[in-house]
Parts: sequence; C-alpha cells; structure tokens
Amino acid sequence: MEKLAIPAYPPELLEKKGARNSQAMVDFRGYTVESFLRAYRDCGPIFKTKVNGLDEVVFGGLQANEEAWRRPDEWSYSEAVRVFREELSSLHLTQLDREPHRRKRRLLNKAFKTSSIMASLPQISEQIRLGLKRINGIEVELHEALMDVYTRAQSVSSIKETLSDHMVRKMVDFEEGFIGALFLNDQERALVYSRSKYTNLKSEVLSYLHGIVRKRLTGETADDLLDAIIHQKTSSSIEPLSEEELIYDAYLLLIAGTGNTSKTLCYCLYELANNPDWTAKLIEEIGQFDASSMARGMSNFPLLKATLMEAERLFPAAPVLPRVPFGDLEFLGHKLTPKMHCLHLVSLMHFDDSVYEDPFLFKPQRWIDNEYPKLAHGTFGGGSHVCLGMNVARIQLPITLGYLLSNYNFSITKEPKKEHYAFPSEVDSMTVRMNVILSSK
Ligand code: HEM
Repeated sequence: MEKLAIPAYPPELLEKKGARNSQAMVDFRGYTVESFLRAYRDCGPIFKTKVNGLDEVVFGGLQANEEAWRRPDEWSYSEAVRVFREELSSLHLTQLDREPHRRKRRLLNKAFKTSSIMASLPQISEQIRLGLKRINGIEVELHEALMDVYTRAQSVSSIKETLSDHMVRKMVDFEEGFIGALFLNDQERALVYSRSKYTNLKSEVLSYLHGIVRKRLTGETADDLLDAIIHQKTSSSIEPLSEEELIYDAYLLLIAGTGNTSKTLCYCLYELANNPDWTAKLIEEIGQFDASSMARGMSNFPLLKATLMEAERLFPAAPVLPRVPFGDLEFLGHKLTPKMHCLHLVSLMHFDDSVYEDPFLFKPQRWIDNEYPKLAHGTFGGGSHVCLGMNVARIQLPITLGYLLSNYNFSITKEPKKEHYAFPSEVDSMTVRMNVILSSK
C-alpha cells in the first residue's frame, strides 16, 4: 500500500530561542521547545522541516519514543554519532550497532548494573562527601568542580587507582574539551580537535588509561569493576574485550558522563535556590545525611527522589538526539530511507501538558502525587542504547545533594549562564555555568 507523505512543517514557524522568550531552560537545537510542541500538535508525531538550514525528519511523543526504543536495530548509531568513532575509536561503545553493540553492552553490564555500583556505596559516598568538603568556603565554578568530584568517586569504585590532582584535572579538561567540541559543526570541530593543547591532553589521558589496562592484563588486581569486566566468564561465542577496547572501556568507567551528571546537579541547585519553601522541606527530610541509608534504595527520601526527577525532566542533558535509519524503514506509518537525517525529540513529552500539568514549572511534588508513563521520560534515552551510566548518575546525584544540603549552606555568586551547544547534526546539549560558595552549617 502507498505510504502517506510525511507532513511538512514550515520552518519559519519554528522560533529561534533568542527571538522569543521560552519558559524552558533547555531548547531544541536553538529553537524554543514551545514551537516544536506546536509543530507536534499540528502535524502529529513525525514531520519534515528545516532545522538550522538542514532538512530533518523530526519525531517525538510517546508513540515515537516507543517505536524508536523498541527497534534500535533499525537505526544506525554509527552514522548518527560518528564523531565518537572518529575522535575516540571504532571500538567505542556509543557508535556501535547491532551485534557488536549487543556484545559490548553484555560485557560492560557487569560494571554498570546497580548491584555492582552499590557494592562500593561507602567509598563513592565518602569521596563525594570529601569532594564537597574540599570546596567548602571557596568560590568555584560548580560544573567543573563536580566533574572533579565525580572522577574521584569513580576512582575509588569503578577503577581503583590513586589519581594525582594533576591527572584528575587533565581528565576533566579532556572530557570538557571532547564533549564541548562534539556539538560544533564539522570544520570548527576539526579545528578544536587538532589544537595541540587538546591533542596533548587526549594522548596523556588515553596513555594513562592504557597503562592501567596493561597492568591489569599482566596480573595486577584491584578488586574493582575494571577487573570484573576483564575476568568475567562468558560463553565461548563472545569475544573477550581486547587490550585496545579496554582503554575506551576504562574511559567509560572513569571519566564518561561526569559532565552530564554535574550539569543535572547544577541545574537542580539553581532551581532549589529559587524555591526556598520546597528546599526547606527537602532539608528537613534529608536531616543529618548518611548515604549508607540509601543502600535499600530511595524509599526513605521521597522528596530527594522527586527533586532529582524534576531536575532530570526540566533539564535533560541531551534533549534531542540525531538519528539515521539503518536501511529502509517503516516508522510511524511512514517510509524512511538511509540517507535521511532525523531528530528524535526524546524530551518533547517532558513539556507536554497532557502528561505534566504546568510542564514548565519546577514542581517536584508532582512526582509524589502522580505516576507518569516511562515513555514520557527521555532524559537517558531508551531501548538497548539507553544511557549506560544511568545507574551511576542516579546514585551519585542523591548522594551529592544529600551531603550538600545536609552539611552546607550554598549561595550562587555568579548568575547562572547557559553555555549552549546546538549545531546541526550532532547531539544537542547545554550546561549551566554558575559560581557557588558552600559554607559549613
Ligand atoms: C545525568 C547524567 C546523564 C545523562 C542525562 C545521560 C544521558 C544520556 C543520553 C540521552 C544518552 C543517549 C541514549 C541514546 O542514544 O538513546 C546516553 C548514552 C550514553 N551514556 Fe549517558 N548520561 C548521563 C550520565 C552518564 C554517565 C555517568 C556515564 C558513564 C559511563 C554515561 C555513559 C553513556 C554511554 C556510554 C552512552 C551510550 C550508550 C550506548 O550507546 O549503548 N552517561 N546518555
């Protein structure tokens, strides 16, 4: 049967963020969330338009999330996020497809499942507590300060390694340099990635990781998650992780995602500063925080959980993801072809009032009063490529907020500024930069 044409939405009806105030802190590729919501209501879950001058097939909504996440093999992650392959390696997880992706996820699962991470809860929480203590009384740019804290927390759990302050700094700078340029256009990105400051950082960090991997492969053990993935028993049909692959897996264990976790916390703190009544109730719930009480989950901390869910909803680190069909594909009743550039608005539903009442307002209480459909929450993506570090982030975030609000007062000393990366054909992302001073209670 002949397929219906994908509805076209006039690009001039999409509003550039700067041209019109949006109620949302995030935007979609530099356009207001509200204008994409209008397009979705006019056209339905899939439409064609131009975004930043490029032809895109755009899709979003519960049904689109369901279809996209249910059939990951229909999409070429290798094409859509090729920058990970070009800049790190063809062995890096993010851009693998189909069977190679399934093999790698299976082998890494041991290090990223909740039970493995929770086994190091005392060490992780102690590092986070100490990390906050280290910045007590000092004005810091919170995003990078937290990346430092999270890298150290990973170094006592995932890869047990005594990192010098110098190496932690290099890891944070490398991650910031890598992720920051990820969203530039091809020429600008090539320029940034070829600068000697960045290439030196990258080679120093990767050779440091290689050194760790080599030690572990030649008999040294540390009883950590890197050892666990190296020495796991697998069926003979699964190729074990090679030395070269393990360098990039070590990057995942120690460094990847620290920026996303920290930006979620920064945004959350900014909202808490603006919502003193809720913050007072939250501080009361947290009391004298002791992370060991999280060992049985978050049931003792309903307000803390709700606060972080609301931050995840309103400030998804990657609100729009690029997608390219693997082959000819029937999707939402339409035919897509391999050359088509698509944008999956994974977080569109976060702002839809048919799901969330007053969707643009920070109202954590909603998570206590309501149950929301899982398909409405796109912060970590979905399906077999769902964020590998989701459990890491969801353990680190409540520990950080718990200790921070329990032990410190905080003041924001430099107005939050959104650092924005929204360029064609790459993952969308933005960061809240703000200076903060903690002072002991
Ligand atoms: C709040 C923090 C975080 C957020 C919001 C976030 C968000 C995301 C999103 C939206 C994706 C894309 C999923 C897709 O393509 O469908 C993703 C993938 C990924 N994330 Fe995260 N992330 C966070 C923290 C982390 C951490 C701590 C790690 C540490 C390893 C991590 C590692 C990864 C990896 C490796 C992938 C690719 C997974 C795959 O393709 O199989 N993320 N993340």
